[in-house]
Amino acid sequence: MNTTTPLIEARGINKHFGAVTALEDVNLSLMPGEVLGVVGDNGAGKSTLMKILAGLYPPSRGQLIVQGQPVHFSSPKDARDRGIEMVYQDLALAGNLRIDENIFLGREHTRRLLGVVPIVHHQANMKQAQEHLERLRIQVKSVGQRVEELSGGQRQAVAIARATAFDAKVIIMDEPTAALAIKEVRKVLDLIKDLRTHGIGVILISHRLDDIFYVCDRVMALFHGRNFAEAPLGRTDRNEVIGWIMGNRSQTASAQELDLN
Ligand SMILES: Nc1ncnc2c1ncn2[C@@H]1O[C@H](COP(=O)(O)OP(=O)(O)OP(=O)(O)O)[C@@H](O)[C@H]1O
Ligand SMILES: [Mg+2]
Repeated sequence: MNTTTPLIEARGINKHFGAVTALEDVNLSLMPGEVLGVVGDNGAGKSTLMKILAGLYPPSRGQLIVQGQPVHFSSPKDARDRGIEMVYQDLALAGNLRIDENIFLGREHTRRLLGVVPIVHHQANMKQAQEHLERLRIQVKSVGQRVEELSGGQRQAVAIARATAFDAKVIIMDEPTAALAIKEVRKVLDLIKDLRTHGIGVILISHRLDDIFYVCDRVMALFHGRNFAEAPLGRTDRNEVIGWIMGNRSQTASAQELDLN
């Protein structure tokens, strides 16, 4: 693993939606094994930037570079083929399918019926899904459970398992803990910490500063579609980051006053 080349870089990204400028000249980079927190007020451009990194939207201007190589993504599949996976806020899981089916959806092992017709090889999928969940230390009763039977935290874990099942290098998570109970939040955050030890880079969007300060190595703030400030976690604090979210670089805003958590 090359630890000096960023896994992914965005340089000078602009994005317009009609007359709306969602992003202006935004830069971002992510190193192997790094967890980067992205914060900003509603409408700051966080999700739009992530959707560009994940191949869902093309940038209006600017460059994406994956492991030193300029890339152009025409679809999320292009990004996925480069090892960039996004866990969407709504998770995009199929509730009526089993855990293993969700993990491999569209990428199943197949075998050939009568040597010709490809059919899904359920046993191979279930075995591999089981091994993958164990590797990530995700606990479920059985991979044969339907996703609709799972708790919010377990669903989030399955979505992360899906994102990491195929050699992902970068996992982008947009508000993964927003809908979770406190106990489940910790599990998801610990799972993110585990990914880091596998050399995966994680970008975490969260409005919850507790999450950011628990799991991230570095935090960057967007404000009105622009880079506003960033720092390694050890060189900033909650009040300063709250200030950034409000568009304030001095350390005057107080957590209690703004009641952000
Ligand atoms: N598909 C779209 N069409 C038109 N405008 C859009 C679209 N997606 C985002 N925008 C606009 O771009 C800006 C940035 O939106 P974005 O969703 O990236 O913000 P965000 O930082 O993720 O906010 P939040 O914290 O509320 O999720 C907003 O002004 C939004 O209205
Ligand atoms: Mg968003």
